[in-house]
Amino acid sequence: MGIRILGTGSYLPEKVVTNEDIAKTLDTTDEWIYSHTGIRSRHVAGEGETTSTMAAEAGRRALEAAGVKPEEIGLIVLATSSPDYNPFPSTACVVQGMLGCVNAGAFDLQAACAGFIYALEQARGFVNFYPGKKALVIGAESLTRVLDWSDRSSCILFGDGAGALVLGNDEAPGVASTKTTAHTILGADGKGSHFIVRTGGTREAPKFAESGVPLPAAVERPELTLMGHDVFAFAVKTLSKVARDLCDTLGTSPEELDRVFAHQANGRIIEATARRMKLPLSKFWLNLETTANTSAASVPISLDQAVRAGELKDGMKIVMVGFGAGLTYAGTYCTWPNL
Ligand code: UT7
Repeated sequence: MGIRILGTGSYLPEKVVTNEDIAKTLDTTDEWIYSHTGIRSRHVAGEGETTSTMAAEAGRRALEAAGVKPEEIGLIVLATSSPDYNPFPSTACVVQGMLGCVNAGAFDLQAACAGFIYALEQARGFVNFYPGKKALVIGAESLTRVLDWSDRSSCILFGDGAGALVLGNDEAPGVASTKTTAHTILGADGKGSHFIVRTGGTREAPKFAESGVPLPAAVERPELTLMGHDVFAFAVKTLSKVARDLCDTLGTSPEELDRVFAHQANGRIIEATARRMKLPLSKFWLNLETTANTSAASVPISLDQAVRAGELKDGMKIVMVGFGAGLTYAGTYCTWPNL
């Protein structure tokens, strides 16, 4: 009873780019990338694939797993930093059309790699206030399309893909639920907003003609810059703190957790988080060896893989936790599949 995850789905593109493939054109090696990140390969969106096509496929699989029809969905929240269009229409609306979720409102949410947990929290609020309604929450990225493939310190980190879940609330319609058992922390540290930046927004002022009319924008390639060390330090400190704070708030301890779904950014970050939480690494879901960092898609892809592998069972105590550009951070503690 109450708010529940009804089904999960994910999609990874067929095309795979290995570290050796990258080393053919960049001054890097498989050994360096693996030893510094834990990544061996990543999936890359192929021709005709976009953030919306991957998101729709993950959404379709989640609907199928949940046994829910597209027209039953009342809201789609799609977390992405690599939308089909910049900035509109939202990728969520494109996906709404693709899936035929004709009764759903739809919007994108941008909180970088922490975006899925932010999106889940918005959807949780929606189904909490509108019992009987269902929401589709998606994290989807094609970040490999916006990377600087000549920058060896950033392009090696990312991969493409999408993950989704269907959220429902079977309380009687019209009665706001009080049965929500999950606890969430959403946070940000804007002082670190320059740590991970992709240029190309409206901050870049246009040049003006003498008449005062803006000249057409010069078509310059947006750039992605990453202060790796600073992000690393923030991540290690923040992931364990958020997970511990969630446990403290609910009067439980990290040792009682069955699984931690941490954002897959760097294997060394996850190892350090496990050490800080005094938990064995085996409690952390790890897939970045073959997916790399799929940003907002990373947590829902992990959840779906765990569900389909039979490793996420009803009643398990789990924490999802992420961080990203902004800097953002977020975590949710729940007893699977209840929220
Ligand atoms: O979702 C959030 C997204 N971002 C992140 O999570 C990033 C977090 N940060 C990291 O994962 C790590 O900081 C990196 C993997 C990005 C970098 O690892 P690092 O151990 O912090 O390396 P470094 O930046 O200190 O670089 C060490 C050396 C440098 O050479 P010099 O200056 O010592 O001669 C780099 O130029 O390694 C060099 N280097 C590389 N060498 C071979 C950097 N990238 C590469 C590469 N291959 N791909």
